[in-house]
Amino acid sequence: MNADEMKKQAAWAALEYITTDGVVGVGTGSTVNHFIDALATIKHRIEGAVSSSNASTQRLKDYGIEVFDLNQVNEVAVYVDGADESNHALQLIKGGGGALTREKIIAAVADKFVCIADSSKLVDVLGKFPLPVEVIPMSRSYVAREIVKLGGQPVYREGVITDNGNVILDVHGLDIMEPIKLEKTLNDIVGVVTNGLFAMRPADVLLLGSENGTQTVL
Ligand code: A5P
Repeated sequence: MNADEMKKQAAWAALEYITTDGVVGVGTGSTVNHFIDALATIKHRIEGAVSSSNASTQRLKDYGIEVFDLNQVNEVAVYVDGADESNHALQLIKGGGGALTREKIIAAVADKFVCIADSSKLVDVLGKFPLPVEVIPMSRSYVAREIVKLGGQPVYREGVITDNGNVILDVHGLDIMEPIKLEKTLNDIVGVVTNGLFAMRPADVLLLGSENGTQTVL
């Protein structure tokens, strides 16, 4: 079984968590694309979705699923999204697809965050995957210098503009032993919009597709 098949398995397993007829939070990425395919099979049961990226919005609409502005919605019972890495406390690195800010907003609103991934994403220590940081374009060099002071090596993701009109620095070389502390420290650098650490608001459930079926980590 290859990684994409494992992602698909985890994505379809997430349907079990769509228990209300309300609005479903939908993340971004290749794993979530499988989830949207799965969600389309039960679209008559849900009110609609809120989406973390233009790409996911388009895919949802292509299936005829209504996509709401988050400001129109009072409650998001479940948010389903992928991750680039998860530790055993379900703290995540996200943003490989560049949608981290909207992802973090919907995760904050949601009652339950179900993370879907293939089994390679589970790690002991976060940081092998470069940590994405979304920054206001004019602050890019300043933020990069501040990140170097913290021991990271920021690399500008050239040619990428986020859905919010910003740019991304991918920070290499971090062994993230204290994810909450680093998440807060990065947030405090002027010009940072969001960083891809989901430690203050980790996932509630991690569904990991693997050779031996989908494992549930709580
Ligand atoms: C998007 O910005 C990311 O947070 C994705 O959730 C993450 O990169 C996982 O992507 P895949 O599902 O494509 O592995």
